[in-house]
Amino acid sequence: MTTELGRLIARRIALTGPISLADFMAEALGHPRLGYYRKALPVGAAGDFTTAPEISQMFGELLGAWLAERWLAMGRPSTVTLVELGPGRGTLMADALRATRGVPGFHAAIDLHLVEINEQLRALQGPALAAYEPTWHARFDDVPEGPLLLVANEFFDALPVRQFEKTARGWTERMVGLSDDGSLRLALAPGVSPFASALPDAPVGAQAELCEAGLALASAIGERLQRFAGWALIVDYGHDGALGASLQAVRGHRGADILDRPGETDLSAHVDFAALARATGGPTFGPVRQGDFLRRLGIAERAKALKARATEAQRATIDAASARLIAPDQMGTLFRVLAVGDDRSAAPAGFSDTPSD
Ligand SMILES: C[S@@+](CC[C@H](N)C(=O)[O-])C[C@H]1O[C@@H](n2cnc3c(N)ncnc32)[C@H](O)[C@@H]1O
Repeated sequence: MTTELGRLIARRIALTGPISLADFMAEALGHPRLGYYRKALPVGAAGDFTTAPEISQMFGELLGAWLAERWLAMGRPSTVTLVELGPGRGTLMADALRATRGVPGFHAAIDLHLVEINEQLRALQGPALAAYEPTWHARFDDVPEGPLLLVANEFFDALPVRQFEKTARGWTERMVGLSDDGSLRLALAPGVSPFASALPDAPVGAQAELCEAGLALASAIGERLQRFAGWALIVDYGHDGALGASLQAVRGHRGADILDRPGETDLSAHVDFAALARATGGPTFGPVRQGDFLRRLGIAERAKALKARATEAQRATIDAASARLIAPDQMGTLFRVLAVGDDRSAAPAGFSDTPSD
């Protein structure tokens, strides 16, 4: 049994032919009424997955300190557009802003903008961030121009990717078509893809992904930073330009088939940080491993401070959360952090010259 959205996608394919995986993903996540990110409350223990800010307040606090330090490095502009892409429950930004209350002039300078398509999540972000009077947008391009500080955690992985396989003919795109029984199925397009020129040389059998939406967004962010000054911090699971097919489906904290129950299943792909960094066109730092980044920002000291006024049970929770965020076998290595800025003269905090790989 598929979903109403699955039937709509099958009908579209029956009418106009196979669609790219990127088109499928855009529909499955973003369909105005039935898309996964339009209706579900996906983030959190009760949703399909949990995220770093939901694991511990330390994550948002340390990212807040990073943003405030960058504002100081920018020369304390009297107004700065602070943007979060995909703020989820608003937890990261609420923690970041609470932790930076003591930075003289920072909060007075902030004009907060949230880029979010999910109405239910907007309804949670409102109360969490009411004191900062945020403005919401469906797209980054609608955010007013000016000096910029931007943060995005687990946002780029939700943007649609195309998938390719190298055949004897060349790079060929994996498409979503129909089986004889009318159900959705994956199949390679017959000809060589016009995107082949954007893909590297690779042996037959290799797989690759291309996230046009992510690269276009990175390019738009880079262009803003160069025109108006500022910094962006992008955190996500991903790699540094490796080939492969990473698109995955998760429903109720479990793996699922990519084509299974569109609209009820989360789809995400590993972020190609090398491609993202190139697309920004500006000075970039990293990607560094999340574990290294948080350690350099002082997660151990922050955990110690929190534990000093905690109960024994709370101390155990703080230790477990730290481990989850930084341990190599948990989020510490898979998750990467990339900074994009307007100045390549010195690495920002967390991006020391020590190689992270
Ligand atoms: C995986 S969640 C991460 C939430 C939050 N950053 C966190 O770390 O908990 C992705 C967020 O991006 C939003 N989102 C997904 N696709 C989007 C799009 N195309 N435009 C705007 N927001 C989007 C989702 O609704 C959600 O708030």
